[in-house]
Amino acid sequence: MGIFQHTSFYSGLAVFRAWCPVLLLIYGLASAEELPVAADHGMVVSASEHASAAGIEIMQAGGNAFDAAATVGFVLAVTFPEAGNLGGGGFMVARTADGQNLSLDFRETAPAAAHRDMFLDERGNVIDGLSLRSALSSGVPGTVDGLLKMWNDHGSGNISREALLAPAIRLADDGFSISASLADALNSSAVKFKADPEASRIFIRKDGRPWTAGHTLEQYSLAHVLRFISYSGRDAFYTQGCALQIAQKQARTGGLITIEDLANYASVYREAIVGTFRNYEIVTMGPPSSGGVLLIQMLNMLEELPFRQTHWNSPLSVHLLTEVQRRAYADRAVHLGDPDFWDVPVQRLTSHRYARERAGRIKPHRITLSADLSAGEIAPQESEETTHFSVVDKDRNAVAVTVTLNGRFGSGKVIHGFLMNNEMDDFSSKPGVPNLYGVTGGEANAIEPGKRMLSSMTPTIALKDGKTALVLGSPGGATIITTVLQVFLNVAVHEMDIQDAVAAPRHHSQWLPDRIEYEDGAISEKTRRELSRMGHTFAEAPRSLGAANCILIDEDKIYGAPDARRQSAAVGY
Ligand code: DON
Repeated sequence: MGIFQHTSFYSGLAVFRAWCPVLLLIYGLASAEELPVAADHGMVVSASEHASAAGIEIMQAGGNAFDAAATVGFVLAVTFPEAGNLGGGGFMVARTADGQNLSLDFRETAPAAAHRDMFLDERGNVIDGLSLRSALSSGVPGTVDGLLKMWNDHGSGNISREALLAPAIRLADDGFSISASLADALNSSAVKFKADPEASRIFIRKDGRPWTAGHTLEQYSLAHVLRFISYSGRDAFYTQGCALQIAQKQARTGGLITIEDLANYASVYREAIVGTFRNYEIVTMGPPSSGGVLLIQMLNMLEELPFRQTHWNSPLSVHLLTEVQRRAYADRAVHLGDPDFWDVPVQRLTSHRYARERAGRIKPHRITLSADLSAGEIAPQESEETTHFSVVDKDRNAVAVTVTLNGRFGSGKVIHGFLMNNEMDDFSSKPGVPNLYGVTGGEANAIEPGKRMLSSMTPTIALKDGKTALVLGSPGGATIITTVLQVFLNVAVHEMDIQDAVAAPRHHSQWLPDRIEYEDGAISEKTRRELSRMGHTFAEAPRSLGAANCILIDEDKIYGAPDARRQSAAVGY
């Protein structure tokens, strides 16, 4: 079994290997393996070594990539509670061994009693923190339904529900030794946990002292819930004991989720968004995520521009990327929302004709001010936590899954051991007012009962010459889409291997604020000077951009590339 794990947050910008031989040495010390991890039969790259290893065990026991993905998802709820979850939601994009494209939407929904102005005061102003830190911040969770659907509909049939959940139950019951990054995350979220008695009981140490790496985190209540799901399936969560507990706690603490909301929840298969770029076909997530539409739209625009001829992060390359990004994100704010509630013009936005019109106005040596594309103002925002994992099995079923509670540890409210999301913040609380990730929205993403809030999550699979070649995705709020775009371009245009493609420093712009954020090493000073003369403005990224746990498949091997920007582990066999 090949394994490689990164355990430090944001050690990573320096790890662009070609540029930093010293870190090559650190790799050498950290693991005997070369990166990316190469394997013949199966690969999992996730944010947790426990989750990746459990996924491989499922495959070794006869499971396929869908079985493994479901197990990885459940284990992440235990070992990566920052974002892995039962009380949140996510998306899956898959390409089956027999050539089917699948996309499963298990995004949270607004409760039936939700209404568009629920986060506004009587003067119509957004009430600070209500969509992030209160019981009202939670949407109806979708993860349990989604993970069980993956297993039930596309699993091998060799893995029982009990076997599927066994690794997660064991880790919750026995506890596991926490990493430095989980210790940091727990310590820095103590204020959030203190606001909730059940969260305090689990996530704050009995003696009140800080967590450090190596401490054991036991989660008995969570083990109990997982065991209940393993016996009774989705009903355990959506109509029986858990549902009751969620509804009761929500009612007690001012939330809106009822037992009916939970009983009515269903994850749904959506038509995957498909586009092309050179000899690649890209299969990605459609609305209610904005990710896939924007990704295809940006790739289409780049095809209309002299991007292919550019060198990695040369002035022209950064300029063209920024110009297509600002156009795509301007469209996001107006056109994207839950397709069950809003007529999203997917065909038009992802058409080559539209890309030609939009890209036709991009000048190679002159910027377009974002204000000239549309109006609005946004304050700088911090990103938080989500997690992406990629799975490939021996038959080359490929599964890309991104799950989230939205903010790190979600709302910080715990119900019988599991954390509830604060995904309601992804709706547009008020037109033009930015959310946690600095993105704005309007009517298309207004709150309505039963509606799914717009996402940026972009689980993606790319085929090369018709064969499954890349499994991609990332956390990072609004920066997810540009992260996936750049990792893909690093392979498809700049011909990097998958590890370099993931490690290469990134930059991001999103229409508003009108600036390019960049990681250390992403854009040289000389290039920044040149681009500044054209009118671009820059800011150092406040934290790393994304954490792309990706896989590349070639003729005979599978390569797992963990992203050192955050904790991650690639395990193959
Ligand atoms: O669905 C979304 O777009 C956000 N809730 C994702 C949040 C996220 O990626 C935070 N990660 N760093």
